[in-house]
Amino acid sequence: MQNGSSSRTVGIDAIAVHVPRLYLDLRDEWARVRAPELGEASVEQLVGKVTKGVGVTEMAVPDAHEDSATLAAMAAVKAITHAGIDPRDVGTIAVGTETTVDQSKSIGAYVLGMIEEHFGVELRRVGAPQFQFACIGATYALESAVNAFRAGEATKPYSLVIATDVSKYPLKSAGEYTQGAGAVAMLVSESPRLLALDARVAGTITRDERDFFRPNGLSTAVVDGKYSIDVYLGAIAEATEMYLERARAELGRPGARIDELADHLLFHVPFPRMSEYAALRVLGEAWRADGSLRAALAAAAPQLLSPELERDPAVRKEAEKALAKSVIFRECYERRIEPSLALSRRIGNIYSGSMYLALASLLETAADRAALAGSRAAFFSYGSGASARVFSGVFVDPQRAYVPHVTQALDGARVPLDVATYERLHAGPSSDGPPSLAQPGKSVLPPAGEFALARIGTDQGPARTDLGYRYYEWVAS
Ligand SMILES: CC(C)(COP(=O)(O)OP(=O)(O)OC[C@H]1O[C@@H](n2cnc3c(N)ncnc32)[C@H](O)[C@@H]1OP(=O)(O)O)[C@@H](O)C(=O)NCCC(=O)NCCS
Repeated sequence: MQNGSSSRTVGIDAIAVHVPRLYLDLRDEWARVRAPELGEASVEQLVGKVTKGVGVTEMAVPDAHEDSATLAAMAAVKAITHAGIDPRDVGTIAVGTETTVDQSKSIGAYVLGMIEEHFGVELRRVGAPQFQFACIGATYALESAVNAFRAGEATKPYSLVIATDVSKYPLKSAGEYTQGAGAVAMLVSESPRLLALDARVAGTITRDERDFFRPNGLSTAVVDGKYSIDVYLGAIAEATEMYLERARAELGRPGARIDELADHLLFHVPFPRMSEYAALRVLGEAWRADGSLRAALAAAAPQLLSPELERDPAVRKEAEKALAKSVIFRECYERRIEPSLALSRRIGNIYSGSMYLALASLLETAADRAALAGSRAAFFSYGSGASARVFSGVFVDPQRAYVPHVTQALDGARVPLDVATYERLHAGPSSDGPPSLAQPGKSVLPPAGEFALARIGTDQGPARTDLGYRYYEWVAS
């Protein structure tokens, strides 16, 4: 067993992804409109920056009837259906989100209502909490679900952990091309069919930071872009150190480097290029501490061996730039990281689900999914504000446990948006009062075969009060 001395093997039994059907192509009209607005030298320059420098080509955009709750419920239905389980065997619905639909009520309760309606079941004897900590919320939800099983406290065979978000930055800002929307649902169980999580190895750190946040009342995030990258990298490096101390002991691999312990490195992906920055930091730290790689590094990225690296961020930047071009890094990156980025290049940032989308991407794009069995994935989860958690797991039977479905959805049923319609959706419904009380606007694509936000409650009186309550319904295709 891969899990040290843990008596219970707990992990992810199934995973499913749902993204909106609408998307914005960042190489077409949007680039022509924005290049002058963003002060770029040319359209080609902006397209190059967004597609190569940032790494994203298309972004999923929610329609007027979609929100974090409908996306979560859709992903949940897919996970339950793909796994072929009875929804009444789910004991907890734990949702990680930073774009909640209500300031008090858990999205988990809305999702529960939608699942009940869809499957015609009653799920009352369940817990349905919401976890919030920027993009790491779903990881804390996963930890909680896993711990309940490990402690023998789970009352039913499965817990549903859902990461769901609509990532939104101001138009015409540098954050605009790192938006997206989507949800990832995972069934957690004992003896999981997909991925057995390693016990007692996780490294978790938290620092009080101002890199990214969304003050109450704002619909778009406040972000210090470049600083957020630095905080992400520092936090991930620190959590990796803690993970390694524990993993080397628990997995019986004293002195092992991260790339010797793990076959796949799955990072939080606010934008695909961020995974490359993170890989450079994590692998750079691992390799420069290994005397046997000294000669190879001296040739490929000599600055990496400089004692100044710890003290001077400019030296570290130069070292990582050189390492990025080296054969030793490129070979490792192509094999262990690149397969996890295919989906986010076409979906964009889905905040709390983005690292789990990387897991789905690895599974979805693997030429030989069965061959992943027995290999270990390390997860580098990050949430601004800021917290990082590094943990790992071993694939069990990915060939049977994973049902490919995302690429087909992206290739088959998506509809591109023009800029005017995208901007209308971005603005949201107009309202005299708080936007959360506004009725949903007109959908671009009428809902079909999906959950939809039907209306917002307006009553406030002695007989009945539902002002602001969100009514969801299943709309058949
Ligand atoms: C990610 C973000 C900081 C990028 O900022 P930006 O000002 O648009 O982009 P930059 O000018 O830094 O360029 C990004 C990269 O594209 C490269 N680039 C620029 N033009 C290019 C072109 N035409 N072709 C290829 N690459 C290009 C840059 O050299 C840079 O790469 P480097 O880091 O290797 O030097 C910005 O989109 C943002 O703030 N996003 C939201 C915050 C976020 O997601 N933070 C992550 C932590 S959670």
